[in-house]
Amino acid sequence: MVKRQLPNPKDIFEYVQFKKPTFNGRQRRLQDALTIYDLRAIAKRRTPAAAFDYTDGAAEGELSILRARQAFEDIEFHPDILRPAEDVDTSTEILGGPSAMPFGIAPTGFTRLMQTEGEIAGAGAAGAAGIPFTLSTLGTTSIEDVKAANPDGRNWFQLYVLRDREVSYGLVERAAAAGFDTLHFTVDTPVAGNRMRDYRNGFSIPPQLTVKTVLDTLPRPWWWFDFLTTPKLEFASLKSTGGTVGDLIGQAMDPTISYEDLATIRELWPGKIVIKGVQNVPDAVKLIDMGVDGLVLSNHGGRQLDRAPIPFHLLPRVVREVGRDATVMIDTGIMNGADIVASVALGAKFTLIGRAYLYGLMAGGRAGVDRTIAILRSEIERTMKLLGVQSLEELEPRHVTQLTRVLPVPVAYGEAAEALAPTSAPVRTPRATSKAAAKPRTKAAAKTPAAETAAEAGTTPLEAVEQSSEAVEAAEKAVAD
Ligand SMILES: Cc1cc2nc3c(=O)[nH]c(=O)nc-3n(C[C@H](O)[C@H](O)[C@H](O)COP(=O)(O)O)c2cc1C
Repeated sequence: MVKRQLPNPKDIFEYVQFKKPTFNGRQRRLQDALTIYDLRAIAKRRTPAAAFDYTDGAAEGELSILRARQAFEDIEFHPDILRPAEDVDTSTEILGGPSAMPFGIAPTGFTRLMQTEGEIAGAGAAGAAGIPFTLSTLGTTSIEDVKAANPDGRNWFQLYVLRDREVSYGLVERAAAAGFDTLHFTVDTPVAGNRMRDYRNGFSIPPQLTVKTVLDTLPRPWWWFDFLTTPKLEFASLKSTGGTVGDLIGQAMDPTISYEDLATIRELWPGKIVIKGVQNVPDAVKLIDMGVDGLVLSNHGGRQLDRAPIPFHLLPRVVREVGRDATVMIDTGIMNGADIVASVALGAKFTLIGRAYLYGLMAGGRAGVDRTIAILRSEIERTMKLLGVQSLEELEPRHVTQLTRVLPVPVAYGEAAEALAPTSAPVRTPRATSKAAAKPRTKAAAKTPAAETAAEAGTTPLEAVEQSSEAVEAAEKAVAD
């Protein structure tokens, strides 16, 4: 029998603490956002559909970005227990300089169109957090203004080789003069990807008013107010306007870029050179052999070739071939600090965030980008503590395996087979060899022993995939027998 008493008003005040109301709407919104997906939801409410969709969308059926995010969600972490992890050090050295965390801001074009503070917000927030900021060739803030927004931090410049080489190379020289320390040469954009949402929304540069856009404006007057009361949107490099962003990119990009351009750029650029958009093992090996300073495994956030390889799957295979000392970085699909931790565990030296930054920007300008960085920071720190590691160097492949949903069909012949084939590490035999152990209740159950073996052996997700398929085959054979 529970003993009852009359409620004591003093106790009520002790139990119930009234939260101080936050009158600043932006601050309140951002504080309530606990994940990057929460920031995305705010961004969607506050940004005209055409600008939001330009950012959020990808090419064709948008499968590349969905798969990349799914691959991160399908990570399985393997923590160590009873390890002191009160404090964690998230700092790292990348491309000859420091970064407070293992991620930086990726280059994005047309940024001020999403939210008027644009690159200034990104560069300022990156500088304050001690991480690098990358300005795109298609940026909407000048090189010099970015430098002014992030005077003491690290600025990187992303290069598109345009048909008008003078314009591209002029920007490279200006970035070098302004003290940018790294050049990202993007190589996955010989032509623009087919961004369906832009066509469907009638999205164009400059924005053109249709009945649909006017109706879309009504609930978002502040976006137009910002847009019209701040300096005119101008592009550092694009003179032509009219048409969708894809049309503009199509007119501006030179589809004939080749390795020769790399040699020219090397002569022009005194700092580090990174190739962004590498998507297979032989290209990665070739570039490292040629002496580039780093690679970004990326499919451009799924905005170029749809159904391109998932960078997170490519990562361990590339690292295995080029070695853990090479500077291999990764982007596409990162929505959580745990994705970053997993990438580092599998050998990435660094990661880049595109949309995660832009969702924050659209949700609340500079404060929104600060919030993106804060969310990712806390997720990185918490994941490291829960894994039982104190520094990024302690992260190893054994901390991560990949749960498999779909399995690649083996490639039988040709160069593709070479690119995909496991090279050095021999495939281990899964433990499930006896009939009893191999007899699965379901196919998924049959995958478990292989995944466990992979985790214990410290193997990579690809090896786990290989082992899983072997286990399924063994199990199916056992059942058939
Ligand atoms: C709106 C938008 C614009 C982009 N513009 C560029 C660009 O100008 N140059 C470039 O190299 N990559 C560009 N990217 C690709 C990003 O640098 C990066 O590779 C990609 O966003 C990573 O995927 P994530 O958005 O899932 O993080 C753009 C991406 C987005 C979302």
